[in-house]
Amino acid sequence: MKNSPYILSLAFATAATFCAAPAMAKGKLNVLCSTDTDWCSLMETSFEAETGIDVSLIRKSSGEAYAQLRAEAQNPKIDIWWGGTGDPHLQAAAEKLTQVYKPKALPNLRDWAQNQAKVSGYRTVGVYAGALGFGYNEDILKSKGLPAPQCWKDLAKPIYKGEVQIANPNSSGTSYTALATFVQMMGEDQAFDFLAQLHKNINQYTKSGSAPIKAASNGETAIGITFIHDIVKQVKKGYPVKAVAPCEGTGYEVGSMSIVKGARHLKEAKIWAEFALRPDIQTMAEKANAYQVPSNKSATTPPGAPDFDTLKLIDYDFAKYGAADTRQHLLQRWDNEIKSLPR
Ligand code: G6P
Repeated sequence: MKNSPYILSLAFATAATFCAAPAMAKGKLNVLCSTDTDWCSLMETSFEAETGIDVSLIRKSSGEAYAQLRAEAQNPKIDIWWGGTGDPHLQAAAEKLTQVYKPKALPNLRDWAQNQAKVSGYRTVGVYAGALGFGYNEDILKSKGLPAPQCWKDLAKPIYKGEVQIANPNSSGTSYTALATFVQMMGEDQAFDFLAQLHKNINQYTKSGSAPIKAASNGETAIGITFIHDIVKQVKKGYPVKAVAPCEGTGYEVGSMSIVKGARHLKEAKIWAEFALRPDIQTMAEKANAYQVPSNKSATTPPGAPDFDTLKLIDYDFAKYGAADTRQHLLQRWDNEIKSLPR
């Protein structure tokens, strides 16, 4: 039978409709991301391209992300929280805001990443590690005739009045890591004495942890306290900043990932979790100028990433400083005794 013109035009119209319709997304996923935005975006686009799952992603600092999970506990809008310092992930785990999940890649992860999972009862897992330090803008120090600081205690010296920036530990996981590091290195009371001295030199407490070294890069502050890998990123971009591994030693983070309890897109969240722990995906971080140490033993650590074997690292007590009551106590003390001090 010959096709009638009517049938042919109907066939063309139908084909045109199919061609014009967007490819159907294969599910949805709401991600809360606490790494730097470049890496968040790279993860979002590569995950969407590979899986066809439609990702809606927001970036929040670690402390703020934890606060959001608490606020939404009865009606979670987020499916998975990826990145950000491990302490608030552990606090969320202790409050059962996140759910037990043992990723297939667990045995292939470095000890510190597996340990993070064990400590949390498998409600979170390590994705990367980063050591704390500070960076300075060489041009600013030179123009002001200031020496380059080498130790934590140098940052509290009166010569650096108004020259230092750090994030607020309530919002930022980086700054909470600094607070917990000082307490572990000096003892709590001495750490708060140090923070009171340091406060006189602080020009601004920022919301996000990496903001201070971006400000140093742009000449808005001489010194920024951040993770060393965030300083490496600025150096690679060509800014006149130098990274310092403090002479007394330092603390570190186990950047983590947790699936939210009651996640509406649980299947997709598990697909993201497996994706994020794959060696090829972790190796890709360098494309976003992320110089953390990856948690999968088979991933390539980007050249320039701080070498954990040569750093003087403290034996960071993640169980204690990741506990909700320790967090609440230290932050309350910081709010009462430091933030309110005149500068
Ligand atoms: C930067 C670092 C990450 C860290 C994160 C914490 O993005 O590269 O390693 O986990 O800061 O962010 P926050 O704003 O909570 O200090």
